[in-house]
Amino acid sequence: MAESDHLRYTRIALNNGSGAIPALGFGTLIPDPIATRTATRAALEAGFRVIDTAERYRTEREVGEAMQEVFGGGKIKREDVFVITKLWNTNHRPERVKPAFEASLRKLQLGYVDLYLIHTPFAFQPGDEQDPRDANGNVIYDKGVKLLDTWKALEGLVDEGRCKAIGLSDIGLVQVKEVFDAARIKPAVVHVESHPYLPQWDLLDYCRKNGVVLQAFAALGHSSRPNLLEDPVITAIARRVNKTPAQVLLAWAIQRGTALLTTSKTPNRIKENFDVSTLPQDAMREISEGIKSQVRFNAVVETGVPGFIPKET
Ligand SMILES: NC(=O)c1ccc[n+]([C@@H]2O[C@H](COP(=O)([O-])OP(=O)(O)OC[C@H]3O[C@@H](n4cnc5c(N)ncnc54)[C@H](OP(=O)(O)O)[C@@H]3O)[C@@H](O)[C@H]2O)c1
Repeated sequence: MAESDHLRYTRIALNNGSGAIPALGFGTLIPDPIATRTATRAALEAGFRVIDTAERYRTEREVGEAMQEVFGGGKIKREDVFVITKLWNTNHRPERVKPAFEASLRKLQLGYVDLYLIHTPFAFQPGDEQDPRDANGNVIYDKGVKLLDTWKALEGLVDEGRCKAIGLSDIGLVQVKEVFDAARIKPAVVHVESHPYLPQWDLLDYCRKNGVVLQAFAALGHSSRPNLLEDPVITAIARRVNKTPAQVLLAWAIQRGTALLTTSKTPNRIKENFDVSTLPQDAMREISEGIKSQVRFNAVVETGVPGFIPKET
């Protein structure tokens, strides 16, 4: 099964008619700006056609520069790439949404994005401080805005043709349903942590039934402990099918019907991660049914505070 097939080119249709999202995506939550730029370029050159960034990652500028370099080379065009960015928690007030979105577009050097996500359902005190804290170090939340009001402001961006689709991130099923039921423009994508230690089957089931794409981040477990890449079920399958553990995890995510994001600063790993092939059904079953560990690596969904972004000193 080491032969290449078409799994890497899987695309999933979006429910708003704006096209399809490639399943295999590249994320740019990389703290070092030079590494972000190099990795983004390498990912596009390796074949990735989804680039995920966020206002909060502070990587939009480097991602924009890397994309301009690649587009300038002439082989890959803007419309070939599905670009995602996210509205940060401090910009949930409806009047702050458009200025935040436009600042993201400027940094990305783009006229539109393919998908704009509300980064988390938690509104923080509005302002320029991305991590507002009180004297005791507690996050200052903003009780003056509801998620649905922020969502309506995102709908306005779609109406203006500035983003092709909108979605939610770091959110649970109950809140997804609330937004979905009330929305004029339905969420096209729900972006959450997911991998065999956190398969989120209920959310995936709801998304499937309602035509929403579930996009899994930390698809390789974010190099955290316990290390998914060393899980005995994964390593045994990797040996059997002559692929690496990372390739097994990425194939599993695509074949069970999710889109995914993976990240690497390392050129060889970026190529490896694009070189996925279809797993046999028995391997799919072993992963879905045989792995019993339950681990959430990122607690952002509980507080809105990002778990993987290093704290500024
Ligand atoms: N909405 C949110 O709150 C949220 C939260 C987290 C992430 N995300 C998005 O999802 C993206 C992916 O998340 P993630 O960074 O957790 O992804 P991940 O792919 O699970 O983890 C990345 C880590 O895996 C390592 N790695 C990558 N490929 C490997 C391979 N083939 N073999 C061994 N190790 C490998 C990388 O190391 P090296 O870099 O050293 O190669 C890096 O440390 C992020 O960049 C971001 O865009 C969103």
